[in-house]
Amino acid sequence: LAACSGGKSDKGGADRPITLGFSQVGAESEWRTANTRSIKAAAKAAGIRLKFSDAQQKQENQIKALRSFIAQRVDVIAFSPVVESGWETVLREAKAAGIPVIVTDRAVDVTDDSLYTTLIGSDFVEEGRRAARWLIDDMKDRKGPINIVELQGTVGSAPAIDRQKGFHEVIDADPRFKVIRSQSGDFTRAKGKEVMEAFLKAEGKNIDVLYAHNDDMAIGAIQAIEEAGLQPGKDITVVSIDGVKGAFQAMMAGKLNATVECNPLIGPQLMDIVKKVHAGQTVPKRIIVNESVFDRSQAAAAFPSRQY
Ligand code: AHR
Repeated sequence: LAACSGGKSDKGGADRPITLGFSQVGAESEWRTANTRSIKAAAKAAGIRLKFSDAQQKQENQIKALRSFIAQRVDVIAFSPVVESGWETVLREAKAAGIPVIVTDRAVDVTDDSLYTTLIGSDFVEEGRRAARWLIDDMKDRKGPINIVELQGTVGSAPAIDRQKGFHEVIDADPRFKVIRSQSGDFTRAKGKEVMEAFLKAEGKNIDVLYAHNDDMAIGAIQAIEEAGLQPGKDITVVSIDGVKGAFQAMMAGKLNATVECNPLIGPQLMDIVKKVHAGQTVPKRIIVNESVFDRSQAAAAFPSRQY
């Protein structure tokens, strides 16, 4: 009988709900708030006791939260790391305590990948490539030079590193395109606007395209473009990533040209994995979310069914 219960029933399942400690990046974007809602709702629906901690975009807060989850001896830890590096020590502490760790959304850069069980999230490199492919197609009849300004995400974060990489991989093969400025807007509207103002001040009418690593920065930048007396979506082509409702509204208003989807609704999938990991089952090391690209011509039809 003892062998049948496998020692797991005393840690959760029928006798006691599974406790999951989740450390979230923050609330920096529409994407992130949708991600948080999805995780909270899915935990409730799955009967998982969730200890949720908001790191306000600071790695030190996330490390503290992970240590507190270890001290509380939660059953499973999951987190979306604000940046890629600097996790080895705390992940070793979790491993020594026998607590499995699931990485969500953003990757970690560790030498020993046994420090986490799985990574559930988007393929950010592919998202960058999709943005570039969309741009090349949209501008197929246009002569060069085509000047691009780039609003990067949070410095050192997986989506900022990967979306830049994927975009360059594709765009650099077309000699008409040139990235003339590239700076971080930290994934927020306020910073996106501020950095775009600086780009416009420095480059004037020299900017043909804005590539933003997320919709929120693009929406902030659109405001800066309008305040500079230019028409976003016309004088400056704007392409960004996420596919949040705000981006669809901007596309319907003709101010954003395209958005590459990045799905934040990973809560149900995460809870499923938490249960499997807790039950000692093997799960794939990498779980990728399916996504597509939307432009202005598709925005009005797709808007009513958008869930975030
Ligand atoms: O890690 C995913 C990224 O983080 C989203 O694209 C962005 O909006 C969020 O802040």
